[in-house]
Amino acid sequence: FNVPAPVNEPVYNYAPGSQERKLLKEALADARSKVLDIPMYINGKEVFTEDKGKVNPPHDHQHLLATYSKGTKKHVEQAIDAALAAKADWENLAWEQRAAIFLKAADLIAGPYRYKLNAATMLGQSKNAYQAEIDSACEIIDFLRFNVSYMAEIYKQQPPVSPNGSWNRVEQRPLEGFVFALTPFNFTAIAGNLPSCVAMMGNVVVWKPANTQIYAANVLMEIFREAGLPDGVINLIFVSGPDAGDVIFNHADFAGIHFTGSTGVFQDIWKTIGNNIHKYKTYPRIVGETGGKDFILVHGSADIEAANTAIVRGAFEYQGQKCSAASRVYIAKSIWPQLKELMVSDLASLKMGPTEDFSNFINAVIDEKSFNNLAKYIDAAKKDSGVEIIAGGNYDKSKGYFIEPTVLVVNDPKYTTMCEELFGPVLTVYVYDDKDFDQILDIIDTTSIYALTGAIIAQDRYVIAQATQALRNAAGNFYVNDKCTGAVVGQQPFGGARGSGTNDKAGSMINLLRWVSPRTIKETF
Ligand code: ALA
Repeated sequence: FNVPAPVNEPVYNYAPGSQERKLLKEALADARSKVLDIPMYINGKEVFTEDKGKVNPPHDHQHLLATYSKGTKKHVEQAIDAALAAKADWENLAWEQRAAIFLKAADLIAGPYRYKLNAATMLGQSKNAYQAEIDSACEIIDFLRFNVSYMAEIYKQQPPVSPNGSWNRVEQRPLEGFVFALTPFNFTAIAGNLPSCVAMMGNVVVWKPANTQIYAANVLMEIFREAGLPDGVINLIFVSGPDAGDVIFNHADFAGIHFTGSTGVFQDIWKTIGNNIHKYKTYPRIVGETGGKDFILVHGSADIEAANTAIVRGAFEYQGQKCSAASRVYIAKSIWPQLKELMVSDLASLKMGPTEDFSNFINAVIDEKSFNNLAKYIDAAKKDSGVEIIAGGNYDKSKGYFIEPTVLVVNDPKYTTMCEELFGPVLTVYVYDDKDFDQILDIIDTTSIYALTGAIIAQDRYVIAQATQALRNAAGNFYVNDKCTGAVVGQQPFGGARGSGTNDKAGSMINLLRWVSPRTIKETF
């Protein structure tokens, strides 16, 4: 292929005294020193309105980082019109010309924008420097570069057989209409990937980010524009869900949705699309990554240090707000006393506080709603005689939405927090008798409606094989002797089935193929 062979972007470590740390600190200070007025972008134009929303760092909620202009149904209509007006020129551009824009965007993030985008993610979404670096630097760069290589493979696929006297060919057309990208707060990389991989394949996009991710979304848009994205190809709007839905899901040219968010919202959207199906020119593509109730299963043969690292990192990095985060852990009784001691001492050593202090491992949860919801589960656990809290359990929202990394040990494997998605730094542990391993596999498989990520920590190869087979439908990303988070683009295509989504693997050819509609042409000579 004539596109550069993608290589995963190296992770900067921001060591004390390093030049990277100095530049990132400068970017943080610069962002803190001003109050941005963030516009929507429709047809390449900045659109300001009188109705303003606020952006506050979750770890310092009284500080005003920015305001953003809220739109109405009128802006949704304008965004769709702009997208449709841009469509013909965009889809007729050679794919190499489109690819160049996204490769340039990757280079801009790897170079001049790295610190600005990481600082935006650290402030707007309360990620520490490492978590920001692996997301808003490495992962989005990887998405852009790897997707360009998958795109090249798609456009250069072998043509079908053509017997003498004929020529058969298959062309990959963009979808007929516009695509809606609805993106989450928890990864700047996902927020950037969902609209960009759709646009790459020649489609035009209306993009609505989560309100809690607008600050970094604005920087992403700046990067796409600087990379040369033509006006109208991706239109960024800040409107309420119902306003967006009313206009988009009633539009004849609605051709697809690329979604990451909650299972409930996705199911409601699917129902709405189903109810409106007669209004559309084509069956819309519905691609979504939704909830998770991700597990780690620790067998009696496990390396205890490895199990501890997998649990502490898998459950508590980014405050447990990765869709992939471990939230239920099953541990063999024979090794529990030792593992418990390690976990409790490690968790006690983790510092909690604002992202701008680089020694903090734990930062704030995303907003007050999430904080209150998590506090409710912790309070219920405190009152329940079947639950022991072995770590954390305290929370404080006076300055930021801080919740201590909390571990609940339950005596019922179907306790609420073993089944429901909490999306925060609250982990539930169930200790099983070693002889009940087969039953535990069954319990893991049937406890939750989700199937995103999972892990087995064991040294016994027969056990690894048994769990890998028994849990084959319980996780779209399954890890052996590793934490269940941190899928790397190009290495572990990411996504799950059941209540976790359509499993169209972010950052893979499977995903990009959802954004084209093939046409077969037979010519007879
Ligand atoms: N891709 C992210 C992870 O694996 C969600 O943690």
